[in-house]
Amino acid sequence: MEVMICPTAQEVGERAADLVGAALARVSGRPPTLGLATGSSPLNLYAALGRRFRSGLMDPRALHGLALDEYVGLPADHPESYRNVLLRTAWDVWGLAPERLHVPDGSARGEVALAAGARAYEDLIAALGGVDVQILGIGANGHLGFNEPGSSLRSRTRVKRLSDRTRRDNARFFPSWEEVPAHCVTQGLGTITDARRLVLVATGDQKARAVADALEGPLTASCPASVLQWHPDAVVVLDERAAAFLQNRSYYDAAAQGLPGGEAASAREPRPAGEPDPAAPAPGDERS
Ligand code: GLP
Repeated sequence: MEVMICPTAQEVGERAADLVGAALARVSGRPPTLGLATGSSPLNLYAALGRRFRSGLMDPRALHGLALDEYVGLPADHPESYRNVLLRTAWDVWGLAPERLHVPDGSARGEVALAAGARAYEDLIAALGGVDVQILGIGANGHLGFNEPGSSLRSRTRVKRLSDRTRRDNARFFPSWEEVPAHCVTQGLGTITDARRLVLVATGDQKARAVADALEGPLTASCPASVLQWHPDAVVVLDERAAAFLQNRSYYDAAAQGLPGGEAASAREPRPAGEPDPAAPAPGDERS
């Protein structure tokens, strides 16, 4: 796991966009796949990525977008459905065809139909060749996607109940508490960690505790984002505020410099699907 700490939230977006853009540009032989997160954390990243697309880093028109999650029960035209949020904040801004943005189906009625939709979403991810780069935010309670504390570390896409904490955090987007959805369909932690590269962005004081628990606490379902510790190619980009409780700060800053005269580890080519990471540290190697 690599940790980059930037002076401002704006710079978090720029650094993360470099990581995401470079990884996408290297995909060959099939359309690249980008995993998208909602929330305010990735907004600077989406804006910065749009600038890179426009500057010709890559032609994004072949891109497939795969959302992490969707609320259950919101009508298709609801402005806060995650499909509409992602169209508004990223996909439409980048000028991409809406049918290439894929979002779990939260519109089906009843558990059986929702579960079938969740399985179909897993099949779709596999059919598209897996996720090349997954963008992630982190909930104040350590959730990833909508995998609340207690979620299985190997879980797949499924229906989940939202915690009251998460509903309170998201209540600002809805006119009343009753209208805040209580359920979602979310990629599981197993699904998320199948992505070839994870890029998590977090900014602000309110994320500092969850970030420290995820990066330096135990690998535990009680802090779903701690599953990043299990991934061979995860990069975490933080602003100073979100990094405030990290104990190993000086190490992260030194490691981010890379080898003398060489490239930082985050600039390495991501692994092709299914291939072991040749640069993966040996067990016990503290650089991991
Ligand atoms: C929602 C999303 C998560 C996101 C989280 C944090 O719960 N499902 O994917 O990481 O919000 O949102 P924000 O970035 O606005 O703090």
